[in-house]
Amino acid sequence: MRISCVVSLIAASLLTFANGQFVPEPTGFTHKTGYAGVSVRTKHVPQGICETTPGVKSMTGYADISSREHIFFWFFEARDVDPSHAPLTVWINGGPGSSSMIGLFQENGPCQLYNNGTLFSNPYSWNNVSNMLYIDQPVGVGLSYSKAVPGYTNPNYGSNTVVLPDNQCPDYAQPYDTCGTYSLPDITKTANSTLAAAENVWKTLQGFMGAYPQYARNGFHFASESYGGHYAPVFNDYFLKQNEKHHKHGAHKINLQSVTINNGWYDPLIQYQAYYNFTVQPGNTYGLQIYNKTVQDELYNNLYGPGNCVDQLQQCYATGRDDVCSYADNFCAAYVEEPFDVVSGRDEYDSRELSPDPFPYNAYVQYLNSPQVQEATGMSTNYSDSTVYVGDAFGTTGDDGRESMTIQDIRHLLEHGVTVTLWAGDADYNCNWLGGQVVAEEVNHQGYASAGFADLQTSDQIKHGQTRQAGRFSFTRIYEAGHEVPFYQPVASLELFERSIGGLDIATGKTKVNDHYLTDGPKQSTYREGNSTVQVDVIPNDSTYDHSTNAPSKSAINKAEAQLSSHFVEQQRLQLAAARERRRRAQRARKDRRRRRL
Ligand SMILES: *[C@@H]1O[C@H](CO)[C@@H](O)[C@H](O)[C@H]1NC(C)=O
Ligand SMILES: *[C@@H]1O[C@H](CO)[C@@H](O)[C@H](O)[C@H]1NC(C)=O
Ligand SMILES: *[C@@H]1O[C@H](CO)[C@@H](O)[C@H](O)[C@H]1NC(C)=O
Ligand SMILES: *[C@@H]1O[C@H](CO)[C@@H](O)[C@H](O)[C@H]1NC(C)=O
Ligand SMILES: *[C@@H]1O[C@H](CO)[C@@H](O)[C@H](O)[C@H]1NC(C)=O
Ligand SMILES: *[C@@H]1O[C@H](CO)[C@@H](O)[C@H](O)[C@H]1NC(C)=O
Ligand SMILES: *[C@@H]1O[C@H](CO)[C@@H](O)[C@H](O)[C@H]1NC(C)=O
Ligand SMILES: *[C@@H]1O[C@H](CO)[C@@H](O)[C@H](O)[C@H]1NC(C)=O
Repeated sequence: MRISCVVSLIAASLLTFANGQFVPEPTGFTHKTGYAGVSVRTKHVPQGICETTPGVKSMTGYADISSREHIFFWFFEARDVDPSHAPLTVWINGGPGSSSMIGLFQENGPCQLYNNGTLFSNPYSWNNVSNMLYIDQPVGVGLSYSKAVPGYTNPNYGSNTVVLPDNQCPDYAQPYDTCGTYSLPDITKTANSTLAAAENVWKTLQGFMGAYPQYARNGFHFASESYGGHYAPVFNDYFLKQNEKHHKHGAHKINLQSVTINNGWYDPLIQYQAYYNFTVQPGNTYGLQIYNKTVQDELYNNLYGPGNCVDQLQQCYATGRDDVCSYADNFCAAYVEEPFDVVSGRDEYDSRELSPDPFPYNAYVQYLNSPQVQEATGMSTNYSDSTVYVGDAFGTTGDDGRESMTIQDIRHLLEHGVTVTLWAGDADYNCNWLGGQVVAEEVNHQGYASAGFADLQTSDQIKHGQTRQAGRFSFTRIYEAGHEVPFYQPVASLELFERSIGGLDIATGKTKVNDHYLTDGPKQSTYREGNSTVQVDVIPNDSTYDHSTNAPSKSAINKAEAQLSSHFVEQQRLQLAAARERRRRAQRARKDRRRRRL
C-alpha cells in the first residue's frame, strides 16, 4: 500500500516534469478578420510583460494565413505620441531564419534583460516615436509555426528539430532541456527565397491593419537588418506592386513612406569582397590585424583566384541558376567569410569582442520560454532565435548568394518617393560598413556621387558617425557599434530612426528633405577609433555594456582580470575552444555551413 503510493507519487511528479516542458494550448484570443480576408487572433499583453510604461498597450497574436501558416507578431503602441495618430513601423530581423524578437529584446524594443535575467525598460525604444509591429517570418521562424508539435533539438547535430511522438521527454531526447513544443519543420510551407516570403508578410499586414485600423492611419514604415538587406527592398517593392493591383477581396493600399536598413546584406559580390577589405586592405578602423601574411594571401586567392569566390558569384549573377548560386554562396562562406571566426576567435558581429561575446544580452530567450510569458502572450510553441531549416530552404535556391534585385528594388522605392535610410555599425564584420558603403554607391541615386560624408549631430552632442545623403537616400556609418546597432548606440539609433520616418535629413534632423538635398563633406569616411575599445580577454557572460565608454563595464573587466586564472575564466576559454572546434567541424560538414545574418 505504502509502496505503491510512493511509486504513484514519483510517477505523478515525473509526469508533471515531462509535461511541464511543453507549451499548453494557448487561450483567450480575440478573433478578427482584417483586410483581404486575412484572419488574425490577438491577445492583450498585461503591463509588465516587456512594456512597463503605464498606459502603453501591447498585444501579441497570429495571422492565420492557412491551416499550416500562422505568423506571429508582437505589437506595441507608441509611448510618447497618441497611438491613433502615430505612424506604424514593422521590424523584421534577417537570417534567413532569425526571429524578430532579436530586434525587440536586444535592440530597439521597449525592454531588454540583463544576462542575470533582470528586465529593464529601454528609454530609447523605437515605440517612443512610432507604433511598432515585430513580425516573425517566414513560417517556422521564432514564434511563427506551421503546426505545434512536441520535439527536441541537438546542437551537435545542426540544431534541427526532431519531432517526438507525444508530450513526454524520452531518454534519447538529449540534451533534455531542449525538449519543448516546436513548429513542425514543414519545408513545403516555409519560403525558399526572399521573393517567396513577401506574400505572407503582405498578408500579415493586411490582417493586422484591417483588424486594428486605428494604428495604421498615419503612414507605414519598414525597418530591418542584416538579411533584411534582401527582405526590405524586395518586400516593399512587392507591397508597391500589390498597391497597384485591383483587388477583389478588399485589400488595403499600404502607404509606404520609408525603409530603414541596419547592417544589411544586399549584394554578395560586393560584400564577400568587403571581408577582405575589412580585415586586410584598407582594414577596419579599430586597428585590428586579423591575419598574418600567409592567411592574407590565401584569402586573396580564395576570393580572386580563377574559379574561386568572385568568379563563382559572377557565374551566379550571369546564369541566375539556383545550383550555381547555392554552390557559390557555400564556397564563399567557407573560404572567405569564416576564416575570420576560426583565426581570430572574435565575434563576427562585433569584432571588438572575443567569442563568446555576452553582448547583446541573450537572457531574453529564457524569458520567452517561461510559462508566465508564454501564457501572457498566447504562444503556441517554445521560442528559438534561429531556425536552421529555414536558412537551409533559402540555401537551396542560392538566395543568399545572389543579389535578388535588391539594388534595383531600392532604386524603384526611391523613384516612388520612399525614403531609404541605410546605416552600418562599423565594428561589425558580418555585414560590414565597407561593403555597405560600396552598395550605397552602386545604388547611384541622383546626386549621391556629389554628396559627401557629414558628421552626425545628435542630442547627446557626441559624434556617433557620418552620413552621406542625396535626396531621400542616405548611408550612415556608426562608430563604436557592432551589427545590432541600436544595442550599442541607442541614442543615435532612435534619433536616426525618427529622422528617417519623419522625412528629415539624417545628419542633423533639422531639414525637411527634398530631391535636391545633399550633404557636404569628403567622399570617404576616414575617422579611426583605434583599439581602445578592443578586448583581449573573453568577457564574463554576466557583464553589462557601458554606453559611455562603448565597452564592457569596468567592474566586468576588473573581475575578469582578478579571476584571470580562476576556474570561471578557464571555463570561458574551454567554451571558446569548444566553439572553435565546433566551427571547424561545421566547416567540414557542408550542410552546416550556412551563416546567419541576424
Ligand atoms: C518550453 O516551454 C516549457 C513550458 O514553459 C518549458 O518548461 C521548457 O523548458 C521550454 N523548452 C525550451 C527548449 O525552452
Ligand atoms: C542584474 O544586473 C543588473 C545590472 O548589473 C543589476 O542592476 C541588478 O541588480 C542585477 N539583478 C540581480 C537580481 O542580481
Ligand atoms: C521614451 O518614453 C519613455 C516613456 O514615456 C520616457 O520615459 C523616455 O524618457 C522617452 N525617451 C526619450 C529618449 O525621450
Ligand atoms: C575594396 O577595396 C578596393 C581597393 O581599394 C576597392 O576598389 C573596392 O571598392 C573595395 N570594396 C569593398 C566592398 O569594400
Ligand atoms: C598564420 O596564421 C595561421 C592561422 O592562425 C597559422 O595557422 C599559421 O601558422 C600562421 N603562419 C605563420 C607563418 O605565422
Ligand atoms: C522553391 O519553392 C518553390 C515554390 O514552392 C518551388 O516551386 C521551387 O521548386 C523551390 N525551389 C527549390 C530549389 O527547391
Ligand atoms: C593597441 O595599439 C597599440 C599601438 O599600436 C599597441 O601597442 C597595443 O598592443 C594595441 N592594443 C590592442 C588591445 O590591440
Ligand atoms: C555563464 O557562464 C557560466 C559558466 O560557464 C554558466 O554556468 C552560465 O549558465 C552562463 N550564463 C549565461 C546567462 O549564459
